[in-house]
Amino acid sequence: MGVRPNRILLTHAHPDHSGGLGELSDAFDCPTYIDHNEPKPKGSRNFKIVKDGDELTLGKLRISCIETPGHTEGGVSYLINQTLLSGDVIFAGSMGRANSSWQDLFNSITQKVLRLPDATGIYPGHGPATTVGQEKEHNPFFIGRVN
Ligand SMILES: [Fe+2]
Repeated sequence: MGVRPNRILLTHAHPDHSGGLGELSDAFDCPTYIDHNEPKPKGSRNFKIVKDGDELTLGKLRISCIETPGHTEGGVSYLINQTLLSGDVIFAGSMGRANSSWQDLFNSITQKVLRLPDATGIYPGHGPATTVGQEKEHNPFFIGRVN
């Protein structure tokens, strides 16, 4: 694509999300961002630790870190303008597996993700993109759970 990444943002440490970390880190020599409650996967020698409310800057972009635990203890989503990179928290018409806490996962979705403006795009770690408005209206786990 002719671009040179200068940051790696991990939503969580599961191998299907971090398996290429070593190759990426070696190829681009850039830091890896991960939540303070998440285990550090193999592959990077340069971790930057984030917590809820942190803001990263990338050129003119501001990246907000929103802790969304439940799928994993240290799951974090990244909000860039009206785009949320949500890892395995929520999927179009479904939700992630509650590996660390079902209640935390439910709260992350109903109190954080689905409180963003309806037009916010959600780009999950698996499956098609969706929006906050679509999930509030059609996701069977959350219909009527968020006003
Ligand atoms: Fe995962």
